[in-house]
Amino acid sequence: MYHSKISGLGSYVPDRIVTNDELSKLMDTSDEWIQERTGIKERRWVTPGSDDTTATMGVKAAKIAIERAKIDKDDIDFIIFATLSPDYYFPGPGVQVQKALNIKTVGALDVRNQCSGFVYALSVADQFIKTGMYKNILVIGSELHSRGLDKTTRGRGVSVIFGDGAGAVVLSREENLDKGILSTHLHSQGEHAEELSLIAPGMGKRWVSDILEENDPNDESYFPYMNGQFVFKNAVVRFSEVIMEGLKANNLNKEDINLLIPHQANLRISQFVQHKFGLTDDQVFNNIMKYGNTTAASVPLALTEAWESGKVNDGDLVVLAAFGSGFTWASAIIRW
Ligand code: UT7
Repeated sequence: MYHSKISGLGSYVPDRIVTNDELSKLMDTSDEWIQERTGIKERRWVTPGSDDTTATMGVKAAKIAIERAKIDKDDIDFIIFATLSPDYYFPGPGVQVQKALNIKTVGALDVRNQCSGFVYALSVADQFIKTGMYKNILVIGSELHSRGLDKTTRGRGVSVIFGDGAGAVVLSREENLDKGILSTHLHSQGEHAEELSLIAPGMGKRWVSDILEENDPNDESYFPYMNGQFVFKNAVVRFSEVIMEGLKANNLNKEDINLLIPHQANLRISQFVQHKFGLTDDQVFNNIMKYGNTTAASVPLALTEAWESGKVNDGDLVVLAAFGSGFTWASAIIRW
């Protein structure tokens, strides 16, 4: 039996900064409303026509993570890619990474768990390493939201929140069982699947041919939908529960947390959780102000920036937690 540890981290965001004021030219919104309700000041959206896609951004983040892990790309035994915005309907972007990095024919798995996708992916990777099956696994979270948002007033409740970007880690075998990922905790509640969803195109109800045939200018089914207040209320409860569950499973208390990295859903949600756990501003890392909500990319993007800024130190207890569409939620308790 082994543990797994994060041996390298990387991130990538597109150059183009989109401010709240810029959005207010596209739709009826304001910098004041967005900052007050979400904490977001700006986000990155890919430049139309650029080479940035979910897969290519993931590859850029992955290259940095591999370099920092001080391993060769051919030491990667497995690839896991979490996203809700794949380049293709199928295949998923995991195989695009295998090709782009020119890694020998290792397995590539795609995870479809939206905002909690990265923590789910990390958990899957952790199991493979614990059993001894693999030594180094590349875990990526990447999203390109900006091309699929309704950028009119009709979509303002959703489109002002989401941003593009990517984060990646290399998860490696750790022989010291006091270090690395101590445990992960995964949950879902499918009865709320449509409260935060993008239902078309999908084979179940509406495929592209149906949308084209109906040609309805009022069709909103191919834009993301979110019942914002309902999602918010569930998020604050589930974040707290799943963090507590992780601490209890390891006989730890909230006082033991050195750094909490919550999925960057909304700054108000992070602040609620911070106060509930009695943590200081220094103990909770947030970068939603700069990037918006990047769903599966948000945790690795925040973790990488926290590590780069010296906030993650040897021996620290680092807690990752996420909640989102599905609903799905998850946590990872890590001894760095
Ligand atoms: O990452 C996955 C998990 N996602 C989340 O956790 C997100 C959770 N939800 C939220 O963060 C918040 O619910 C939002 C930020 C999405 C919305 O904030 P809210 O305080 O819940 O606003 P609301 O949806 O209740 O809307 C309040 C008002 C409405 O107008 P009326 O009906 O009161 O006249 C909206 O039409 O604000 C209006 N509104 C806006 N106004 C200006 C909605 N979006 C905007 C906007 N700009 N962008």
